[in-house]
Amino acid sequence: MGINIKKLGVLTSGGDSPGMNAAIRAVVRTALYNNVEVFGIHRGYQGMIEGDIDKMQTTDVSNIIQRGGTILKTARSQEFMTDEGMAKAYAQLKKHDIEGLVLIGGDGTFRGAVHFFEKYNIPATGVPGTIDKDLSGTDTTIGFDTATNTAVEAIDKIRDTAEAHDRLFVVEVMGRDAGFIALHSGIACGAEDILIPEQKTNIDDVLNRIDKDEHRKKQVHIIVVSEHDDFGGGNMVFQVIKDRFPVLDTRLCILGHIQRGGSPSCADRVLASRLGHAAVIALLQGKTQVMAGVINGEVVFTPFSKVVKSEPPIGADMLEMIRVLSS
Ligand code: F6P
Repeated sequence: MGINIKKLGVLTSGGDSPGMNAAIRAVVRTALYNNVEVFGIHRGYQGMIEGDIDKMQTTDVSNIIQRGGTILKTARSQEFMTDEGMAKAYAQLKKHDIEGLVLIGGDGTFRGAVHFFEKYNIPATGVPGTIDKDLSGTDTTIGFDTATNTAVEAIDKIRDTAEAHDRLFVVEVMGRDAGFIALHSGIACGAEDILIPEQKTNIDDVLNRIDKDEHRKKQVHIIVVSEHDDFGGGNMVFQVIKDRFPVLDTRLCILGHIQRGGSPSCADRVLASRLGHAAVIALLQGKTQVMAGVINGEVVFTPFSKVVKSEPPIGADMLEMIRVLSS
């Protein structure tokens, strides 16, 4: 293959996502198959700084493909953002003779990587692991499918009880500043309204639609709100509705971290296996500072500097469609 890497480090960083274990498994097994030793770096960049690093065998990744979370644990390291933190991390890589890295994570992981690799030239490839689906260079990210299905299952259940009591529900979902979880789960559950960060929330429109539904005796109304819509998330939307329609029986449900856990879906396991494998092969072929992603069914590689947040392509056409389908 391209370059001679004998020892490779793998870490998971940022918010965990279902399927990270499947990606770790693919990285470890692909490396060992190619006679490369693998070192698991625990707790992301923080563990790299602290030298929390262990050699991994093929049996270390047995029976994990179906498990949520990450066996390597994860962290969001502030220290890694400093020159001193990066110097300590580099010293630990040298100490363990680690010559290449596979980074599994989201936006913050690749942002950190860009600075680190500008200073210290360690070959590295990446795998997109985040429930938010907020990275360029891939059509989807590991964990998004599972998290969205978790949200769908929960909202379906909420609709049952909403229907039984003729209630209005505001359901807040995760996604940081990306509205994909809200959009997909909202469409799949037939939500009456979906509020996402990519579009300014017009609260008067929301209230008018509730008013209209009231007049035509449509009694169940579910509003899916992304946690960082510009109006202030589920809490704010709930308060305004309660104030304006005191007679309506309105409830708020914040789904929260339940969306991050659980056994990964088949789609996430396959995606994680494919990208974990591709990231190792790419590294051994001499590719570096690139993330493996899937676009139109094909594995592609995009520089770390380009995968970190661009304007997410959530189209107005999708939102218009929601209006029509929920009318
Ligand atoms: O990035 C994944 C994510 O779950 C976001 O959707 C959410 O805003 C954030 O992480 C929550 O982070 P934490 O678990 O650190 O509170």
